[in-house]
Amino acid sequence: MNCQIGVIAGDGIGPEIVAEARKVLNAAGEKFGHTFCYTDILMGGCSIDATGVPLTDEAIAAAKASDAVLMGSIGGNTSTSPWYRLSPELRPEAGLLKLRKSLNLFANLRPAYLYEELKEACPLREDIIRDGFDLMIMRELTGGLYFGERKTEQVDGVTTAVDTLTYNENEIRRIAKRGFEIAAKRRKKVTSVDKANVLDSSRLWRKIVEETARDYPDVSYEHMLVDNCAMQLVKDPKQFDVILTENMFGDILSDEASMVTGSIGMLSSASLNDTKFGLYEPSGGSAPDIAGKGIANPIATILSAAMMLRYTFDLDIEADAIEHAVKQVLKEGYRTIDIMPREEEKRKSVTQVGTSQMGDLIAERITDERQS
Ligand code: IPM
Ligand code: MG
Repeated sequence: MNCQIGVIAGDGIGPEIVAEARKVLNAAGEKFGHTFCYTDILMGGCSIDATGVPLTDEAIAAAKASDAVLMGSIGGNTSTSPWYRLSPELRPEAGLLKLRKSLNLFANLRPAYLYEELKEACPLREDIIRDGFDLMIMRELTGGLYFGERKTEQVDGVTTAVDTLTYNENEIRRIAKRGFEIAAKRRKKVTSVDKANVLDSSRLWRKIVEETARDYPDVSYEHMLVDNCAMQLVKDPKQFDVILTENMFGDILSDEASMVTGSIGMLSSASLNDTKFGLYEPSGGSAPDIAGKGIANPIATILSAAMMLRYTFDLDIEADAIEHAVKQVLKEGYRTIDIMPREEEKRKSVTQVGTSQMGDLIAERITDERQS
């Protein structure tokens, strides 16, 4: 297969982690006989520096012309970077939001899974994670607070900022459908997360989720308030299968979910629309504090590349091979610094490696199981 992949390396650790994902993809391409052609696309702070805006029309066109886009991360230090003195629509994040909107990427899948080997890195107590957990956050990605009207103005001489949280029933229905479809292929449970005790948008969310649920009688569902969900994620993460939620709640809960897997450097993500196209990116940020040091964990990006093979190209065996290679490397005891065991004694039994060594190790372990 010939795959046209747009690559947004972005800012901070983005270029480092994307390089490793490409390395692993190329290894899979060689093993399985596929050609991956990459087109670099500018977005985020690096685009601001080069063009004055975080995402140009040419960049959007290049993304649209690709079968899928693989992304690293964008943005800088929000208190010190000059990018954050620009007006909101010119900041790095505005580029990502614009790209998601332009490509109608309304469904964001963020799987959080506890690797047996990483239990030592998990900040939760042993009795909580004994049986592991495996959940999928299904985050609505093109509506809600991040896309509502916003302004800062003087009201009676007082500076006042307004953000608007809007959802219509169609936006809720299409993501709810996706959530139930994914759950039907997993453990058949949807937890729909909202704040229906306060927000109108959440009450509509609940109503539409209930209507949608009728079409999926095999899938059980429950409603959970977002504050409770934040608590339940650290109290008993294994209760969850699919967490279905709106944009901002999903943004926050997915960072939390990633940390309970051991590190935000482990959480992959796919942003999908109604076609086979997808934008694949790690859920973590650009980590400017460790950029250029060669210590960032590339696994979330590598697993995002595996999601790309699965969802856009229907290359399930190849995606399995990448996921298997990641597991294998962890089993052999290789760790980037973020997933080192917390206890000194246990640190001795593993080997700490840098970003590119981790990529090499995973790439070397890609095998075609069908031939062995
Ligand atoms: C994420 C990020 C983005 C978001 C930012 C960079 C706009 O935090 O993908 O979770 O909030 O969606
Ligand atoms: Mg986020």
